[in-house]
Amino acid sequence: MKKITKKVIWFTGLSGSGKSTLANSLISQLRKQKFSCILLDGDEVRSGLCADLAFSESDRIENIRRIAEMASLMIKQSDFVVVATISPNDFLRNKAKKIITGKLFNLIYLSTPFDVCVARDTKGLYKKAFEGKIKNFTGIGARFSPPKKYHLIIDTNQSKIKDSLSQILKMLNVD
Ligand code: ADX
Repeated sequence: MKKITKKVIWFTGLSGSGKSTLANSLISQLRKQKFSCILLDGDEVRSGLCADLAFSESDRIENIRRIAEMASLMIKQSDFVVVATISPNDFLRNKAKKIITGKLFNLIYLSTPFDVCVARDTKGLYKKAFEGKIKNFTGIGARFSPPKKYHLIIDTNQSKIKDSLSQILKMLNVD
């Protein structure tokens, strides 16, 4: 087996940008190659560990802090940890990077345009947010600021899952 460098792969992007889809495909592919890996998905973490948190700035900070602390513990016991969370600004992403450490942290920015995410509306949440039923929804009532720096940028409206995955595996040197 190839010698690999442990990595935390952190997906950032709007709701509906393709984070969970790509994160799950990545996990499947890595497991096929017999690597150990763990997925931390924003929606799943928020349904349990972070169920006490909402979407104010301070709650998002605490949400990201908990996810990053978990990732930091888990990467000691695994080849890869994959995180899929909106993490809407550089303050939050840099906080995560600091906790995880720069040498382990790999940021993938899903730059799928807002209009495409709205059109997908996989969970029906954009519709609710436009109707005013969800406050502080990222991209509507709360801002998403793209990262200034990242390891990889993918627009899932332009790139097929298979091709996006190849790019990520190449970045991780496991292609
Ligand atoms: S983060 O901003 O704190 O990083 P996180 O990724 O954990 O967000 O959770 C985002 C998920 O929570 C979305 O995919 C969506 O399903 C749900 N959600 C519910 N309310 C909101 C909201 N106000 N803003 C964004 N996502 C929301």
